[in-house]
Amino acid sequence: MSGSNVLEVRGLSARIAGQEVVHDVSFEVPASGVTAVLGRNGVGKTSTLRAILGLVERSGEVLLDGVRVDGERTDRIVRRGVSYVPEDREVFAGLTVAENLRLAERGTTAHGTTPERRGLVDALFPDLVKRAGQRAGTLSGGQQQMVSLARALLNDNRILLVDEPTKGLAPRIVTEVAETLATAALTVPVLLVEQNLQVVERLAERVVVIDAGRVVHTGPARELLDDPELVQRLLGVSAGGAGDEVSTSSTSEEVEAGR
Ligand SMILES: Nc1ncnc2c1ncn2[C@@H]1O[C@H](COP(=O)(O)OP(=O)(O)OP(=O)(O)O)[C@@H](O)[C@H]1O
Ligand SMILES: [Mg+2]
Repeated sequence: MSGSNVLEVRGLSARIAGQEVVHDVSFEVPASGVTAVLGRNGVGKTSTLRAILGLVERSGEVLLDGVRVDGERTDRIVRRGVSYVPEDREVFAGLTVAENLRLAERGTTAHGTTPERRGLVDALFPDLVKRAGQRAGTLSGGQQQMVSLARALLNDNRILLVDEPTKGLAPRIVTEVAETLATAALTVPVLLVEQNLQVVERLAERVVVIDAGRVVHTGPARELLDDPELVQRLLGVSAGGAGDEVSTSSTSEEVEAGR
């Protein structure tokens, strides 16, 4: 069953401050491409990623390449090649771009930094190469997102967990981040939390929809995006996207505004 899946989550529950916020969540992430996690605000998307990483109290099974890792500490799971690009980007504001990247390098251990990975990062982020000496705190939101993604891509990870990378960014930058992720996803599978359905449509082959801490739908992205009623019912937004360019309703700003 785990053959072509890089990650399997089985019966995962998570508790925050004594409250269970993720309930018995199960899904699989294929070993290539982008799997998107969708859901309204506050339904437990971030908590699901954090539970996979052991950053919150959790129960259930998490398998990486068929091996249980749910008993392990976060640092061990990360060293097994699970990389996390958090919602708030978490760059070191007082350090330069180059220093932020150097801190992320895991050396030549398994799943560590390789010359190929450094080359990919330089090719994907020419703007960061130019800004190597600039303090990360003085970068725009989009540029900080690129630093956060570049840090994850420097290492030879098995999977990236990326939480709302386009949130709050201007439409042009959303497109740039999406294109960067598309290229990155050719080299490493991505589990992507994303509320912008145009980005989901551009990137994701499969979707996992969460509502009130539970998985309420999984399947091909196309199947969901082509069904406006299902999108409305599961996500509470009109599908817009799904093939035509009139879907301005799903730009991040407007999703933000609707929160
Ligand atoms: N530090 C915390 N303390 C208390 N409750 C929390 C904390 N973090 C999250 N929660 C609660 O857990 C639930 C799930 O939150 P979570 O951040 O995982 O949702 P989300 O789907 O990522 O939301 P968003 O779309 O806003 O990013 C919410 O009800 C939230 O209020
Ligand atoms: Mg979140």
